[in-house]
Amino acid sequence: MAKITVSLIKADVGSVAGHSLVPQEIISLAEGCLKEAVESKLIIDFRVFNAGDDLELLITHRKGVDSEEIHGLAWNTFVKAANKAKEMKLYGAGQDLLKDAFSGNVRGLGPGVAEIEFTERRSEPLVVFMMDKTEPGAFNFPIFKIFADPFNTAGLVIDPAMHSGFIFEIWDIKEHRRVFMASPEEMYDILALIGSKGRFVIKRVYPKKGGKLPADEPVAVVSTEKLYEVAGEYVGKDDPVAILRAQAGLPAVGEILEAFSFPHLVSGWMRGSHNGPVLPVPFRYSKCTRFDGPPRCIAAGFQLCDGKLIGPVDLFDDPAFEYTRMKAMEITEYMRRHGPFEPHRLPHEEMEYTTLPKVLVKLKDRFEKI
Ligand code: 13P
Ligand code: 13P
Ligand code: MG
Ligand code: MG
Repeated sequence: MAKITVSLIKADVGSVAGHSLVPQEIISLAEGCLKEAVESKLIIDFRVFNAGDDLELLITHRKGVDSEEIHGLAWNTFVKAANKAKEMKLYGAGQDLLKDAFSGNVRGLGPGVAEIEFTERRSEPLVVFMMDKTEPGAFNFPIFKIFADPFNTAGLVIDPAMHSGFIFEIWDIKEHRRVFMASPEEMYDILALIGSKGRFVIKRVYPKKGGKLPADEPVAVVSTEKLYEVAGEYVGKDDPVAILRAQAGLPAVGEILEAFSFPHLVSGWMRGSHNGPVLPVPFRYSKCTRFDGPPRCIAAGFQLCDGKLIGPVDLFDDPAFEYTRMKAMEITEYMRRHGPFEPHRLPHEEMEYTTLPKVLVKLKDRFEKI
């Protein structure tokens, strides 16, 4: 049997009440497109979600990563959805569709992509994370905790199948290069890079050679598209997604979710220009309201069955995350009181990609040498 591929392809095609929510009309339209693709046997299964104003297409198939047919399906779905959004005069209609023509792959055209191809195990639990109002580097902290921190993941200590650790594939998104690093051996070097989450982003995690799982099949993948690099200016944030496989030689679902019990600070809130905590929420609260935020994350749990998706389970719909949410709101309150001051507002260098330089143009001749 060919390997299975899980693709999560997403774009902001327009939303209702500013940047808050993908309306049901758009979700239904996308579901219709993907249903046709199941009927024509192009794909095995799908689910459509919204992370705030981002339309998320979760697709299973056997075409591998970077398949022209699958990317074409996602692109055509986004184009139809964006046309509908324009008709409905939704906010930011077509926001993330930055190019007019599809040329084989959605990468570089605006949408975000996380894709993973693997041999489906006897039991294959999956956790899919979808964030709004933040950036791909927002996953560095939890992914590191999940696959490298024994205080988060007990399995690193007590499961012989995980005891040797994992390989991290880290992308330098400014210089367009990547490096593979081993944990725990190179843990401090890994942290030296990924602590700079605006530049070094964990793209994939692999098992080590000689273990229970094939070392060439990723166990986690994160979308790393940077919109301003495609558009040349700020056009919305690169709200990221991630797919993680769980259990039996990998972190347990509960270990994966535990990494989100600390509402760490990320950038991307309000006009893509502010830092704030990640709020883990149930699907029904996946809409950004206060100061267009705070940045939030939903988690969908599945079992795969020959490519069919059993689920989703709304994993953050649990009082066990109530304390985290309260903590996040305390941090929200604290950060908001800084108003336009750093570190609530992003550091100056990162504001280069926003509209701020346009505001400062008029001052450029008024500066005198000192
Ligand atoms: P079960 O015994 O319920 O399968 O749980 C195993 C486990 O790893 C839970 O974290
Ligand atoms: P999105 O990237 O989610 O569209 O948000 C844009 C924004 O700046 C909201 O304040
Ligand atoms: Mg938007
Ligand atoms: Mg968004």
